[in-house]
Amino acid sequence: LRRIEDASVEGKRVLVRVDFNVPMQDGKITDATRVRAALPTIEYLKRNGAKVILLSHFGRPKGQRSEAESLQPVADELAEQLGAPVAFADDCMGSPASEAIAAMEAGQVLVLENTRFHAAEEANDPAFALKLASLGDLYVNDAFSAAHRAHASTEGVAHHLPAYAGLALQREIDHLAQALENPERPVIAIVGGAKVSTKIELLTNLLDKVDRLFIGGAMANTFFAAKGLEVGASLVERDFAETARSIMGKAANSGCELILPTDVVVAREFAEDAEHKTVETDAVPAGWMILDCGPATVDALADAIDASKTLIWNGPLGAFETRPFDTSTVEAARYAAGRIKESGLIAVAGGGDTVSALNHAGVARDFTFVSTAGGAFLEWMEGKELPGVAALMDKD
Ligand code: 3PG
Repeated sequence: LRRIEDASVEGKRVLVRVDFNVPMQDGKITDATRVRAALPTIEYLKRNGAKVILLSHFGRPKGQRSEAESLQPVADELAEQLGAPVAFADDCMGSPASEAIAAMEAGQVLVLENTRFHAAEEANDPAFALKLASLGDLYVNDAFSAAHRAHASTEGVAHHLPAYAGLALQREIDHLAQALENPERPVIAIVGGAKVSTKIELLTNLLDKVDRLFIGGAMANTFFAAKGLEVGASLVERDFAETARSIMGKAANSGCELILPTDVVVAREFAEDAEHKTVETDAVPAGWMILDCGPATVDALADAIDASKTLIWNGPLGAFETRPFDTSTVEAARYAAGRIKESGLIAVAGGGDTVSALNHAGVARDFTFVSTAGGAFLEWMEGKELPGVAALMDKD
């Protein structure tokens, strides 16, 4: 991996791929984590006298210009975070981009408009990648969370310029490697979320890599059904019962301990403060639905965490957005946070709802590392090569 610190950037036009795909409501950014994540690389380049040209996608505009998917509000947020002016060009191509770049001085920052306003971006069109490359002298990829996409600005352009990993991307890779590739053992993985169907490759890969695998969330229901248990009115993927059985079979032969909930919280309906009770997993009443793991399960999970040196977490353990079905997620997250402080547990989390679940538990900051990535984190955990990262390795 080529690292940004290896490059000489002074006076150079440095094209930096960031991930400014931030949540936004009515033109306002609701969570600026990804903007903050880009600051170290931007500040490093400014300090070292580069012209900092930022490229990003935003939303899924499918090759069409759209006001709602303009990066202008993100550029404004960046200026605020940096405490310095940030210029904006309303196209990442053509004269708006080239004129804005020609006007730049060393240490200045420019945001180019959403790369996905051009269909050629997602098609990874070589001519488009070449045009992007012509805007800079060097390329830095700092968008780990978009590295699973082989698009022109994440992959294609890296073949036409000296290409380096930015500081945020390096941190992501270094921490994930510490958790999954070269971890302190034993390693426990906690995987939750709604569906087995979206996590088959993840579960299969983890069985080969970790010592314990805890499965929670609605996806555990499919495992209960596969074991012949009554799941009442719970969310369940009966078509994947066979998959669940083969995962259990593989676990039995792999030396990875598969841990399923032994008690669950069931409710008559899925609503805030709905009537609910805790039952053993083999005693779910007909018509009730499983919405969370129970206290005995959280205790068993806590014991399993105690017996592990590394924790890797993806997905909530229950329907955490609706009280009180956030209980097991919050308790397990807080327990892990305590172990990080008191016994040096290494805990890494990422993907989709996981960050909001940890924020909800108030412990995201206590984790050793929380990835900014959703899909890319999952693909990494699945053992897949990420094209955006691979393109930086090719050049070694
Ligand atoms: C993400 O939010 O996970 C990344 O920015 C990738 O976005 P995409 O799924 O639209 O490619």
